[in-house]
Amino acid sequence: MKDKLICGCVRVYRSDIERAILNGARTYTEIQEKTGAGTSCGNCRPLVEKIIRETISGLDE
Ligand code: FES
Repeated sequence: MKDKLICGCVRVYRSDIERAILNGARTYTEIQEKTGAGTSCGNCRPLVEKIIRETISGLDE
């Protein structure tokens, strides 16, 4: 899958968020702490939360 810029403010890519989830992050706050995504304007929050849901449900399979 092609990597995608999710948080333009901090320049965090989808792969960065997925990696943080694989390393144990499960909430938006934990993603903020681990990647910096969502720590500026906050516009990326819905996208970050969607990736968290998608990635976690993928882990359960
Ligand atoms: S786009 Fe993520 S904090 Fe602004």
